[in-house]
Amino acid sequence: MNYDTILVTHHGPTAVVALNRPDKLNAMSMILKAEVVRALHDLDIDERTRTIILKGSGDKAFTAGADIHEFQDRTAIEQWRMYEHGTLYDAIDRTAKPILAMINGYCLGGGLELAMACDIRIASDRATLGQTEINIGIIPGGGGSQRLPRLVGLGNALKLTLTGDRIDATEALRVGLVDEVVPHSHLERRTLEIADRIASRSALAVRLAKAAIRASARMPLNQGLRYEHSLFTLVIESEDKEEGVRAFLEKRDAKWKDR
Ligand code: COA
Repeated sequence: MNYDTILVTHHGPTAVVALNRPDKLNAMSMILKAEVVRALHDLDIDERTRTIILKGSGDKAFTAGADIHEFQDRTAIEQWRMYEHGTLYDAIDRTAKPILAMINGYCLGGGLELAMACDIRIASDRATLGQTEINIGIIPGGGGSQRLPRLVGLGNALKLTLTGDRIDATEALRVGLVDEVVPHSHLERRTLEIADRIASRSALAVRLAKAAIRASARMPLNQGLRYEHSLFTLVIESEDKEEGVRAFLEKRDAKWKDR
């Protein structure tokens, strides 16, 4: 598949999607967002791909957010139509395979919303993060007002969103906005290592575990527990459960069939 604003490469079982406008700090134009949506759809049904990494090209930015040029002259109706057809953030939510955000630098505004929509966030010690929309007189529109408080709590979410201030990777780790911070030079290696580790597990169990955990953000506890029970009941019937249990008892590595 050919793209103009992203690059897709394969590293064994892991696909890496790079936002590729480094001279614009990988700002997300409409075309770029549509291309990521298309790539995620293709990778989710691609049999060799077990995990996906989203990253920014170059050495400065994951992404500095939505392309601010495109806000000029946009009407309310145009904005509504963009939501009507589903957003990049919805597409990430729909993807069944795990998605890791590899945050190598600026991760601002819609870029932070993109990272927050992903399943796991690994940041370079040089990363700078911020929910910065307020600085241009708007508010988060890609899920930031809902995902940020779920990750960092109401007070931190309000502080970040209302001040528009940027924080460094250490502070992001402290408040729970990222899951791991690594030295800049190790970022790619460490992110691939985590992705490959996940890829070495039963893809079926990984998908079900992801579905159960992501449901916790959408459901009250009693419904979420019932949903977990139904997925656990399903996985008990799987060939991978038979193989995993047998392999443990026979003291050998399991050979997953992903079903
Ligand atoms: N949309 C469109 N273009 C952007 C952009 C964005 N969100 N962020 C950066 N760019 C472009 C700049 O316009 C510039 O392009 P140019 O060389 O054609 O003028 C290029 O990327 C480099 O950015 P620049 O501002 O010169 O780099 P810097 O190192 O001085 O500053 C930032 C970096 C991230 C602090 C600054 O670019 C910035 O504040 N960007 C906006 C971040 C933001 O608020 N995002 C949320 C949008 S809702």
